[in-house]
Amino acid sequence: MTGARNLDKSATAEALGKTVAEKSELFQRYSYYAAFAQDAGYEQTADILMATARNEAECARQGLAHLLGEVDPVSFLDMAVAGEHVDRTDTYPELERLARSEGFDEIADYFRIVAEAEGKHENMLGLVRDALRHGQTLEGRTVAYSAVDMAQIMLPAQANVAGYVHGGDLMKLADNAAWVVACRHARKNAVTANVEEMNFHSRVKVGDLVLMRARITYAGRTSMEVRVDVRAEDLLSGRRVEALTAYFMTVALDAQGNPARVPPLIISTREEHKSYEEGRARYEAKRRARRP
Ligand SMILES: [Fe+2]
Repeated sequence: MTGARNLDKSATAEALGKTVAEKSELFQRYSYYAAFAQDAGYEQTADILMATARNEAECARQGLAHLLGEVDPVSFLDMAVAGEHVDRTDTYPELERLARSEGFDEIADYFRIVAEAEGKHENMLGLVRDALRHGQTLEGRTVAYSAVDMAQIMLPAQANVAGYVHGGDLMKLADNAAWVVACRHARKNAVTANVEEMNFHSRVKVGDLVLMRARITYAGRTSMEVRVDVRAEDLLSGRRVEALTAYFMTVALDAQGNPARVPPLIISTREEHKSYEEGRARYEAKRRARRP
């Protein structure tokens, strides 16, 4: 990949390292700027920032490929675990102390939260590395593994005489998206057992593009909870509105139609942890209510 010469310790390797670091940082910055711009309603700015961010990421990826050469996941993971360890034990606790000593308590708390996140990263990456070393794979799947974003255009057959889409049709689309996520997580068929906190937020009309975003929030022994957010986009104006949100509790089934075990959910972020605990609480409450 890098020609006959040895790249190690050359000035070119150093230049590549700098380029990768710079491009990676720009990718992050532009992505965050894009998110801020999107939240503030500057859609075109957000779009162009995001396109530029993706290009920076691609430049970083190509540079890193030159630098690393052969792909060795265990050594990648070793480097990652070591870096996360230093961040957890030194870098961020030190920054927390600094911010605290200057009286910026809120920022000090932020550094503490970052250090906690680094601990989770270290733990998770270490588990994958150790499994890989022993020729095994980790039991469990992340939220991202099964997540889906689906889209469908609304046609006259789905609407009432006033041109608004039936709530039942939206529920069906949401149920479908939840089913896809449950099947993906379990790699088994699944059925919906109950739906919680279903709320319709605004009307959807014929011709709108319905966007469904579905994410697993909780996985028990055989049950999985999936949150679905449905938005409607007016294709001509580009305006998007929240249409429906709901939590679908599903049960995985084996080939005989009996409840089947599902992989545990691997939680990576604070938000995922919060959603997991809320999902578990809904699941437990439902179970208690069913008991005679
Ligand atoms: Fe990290």
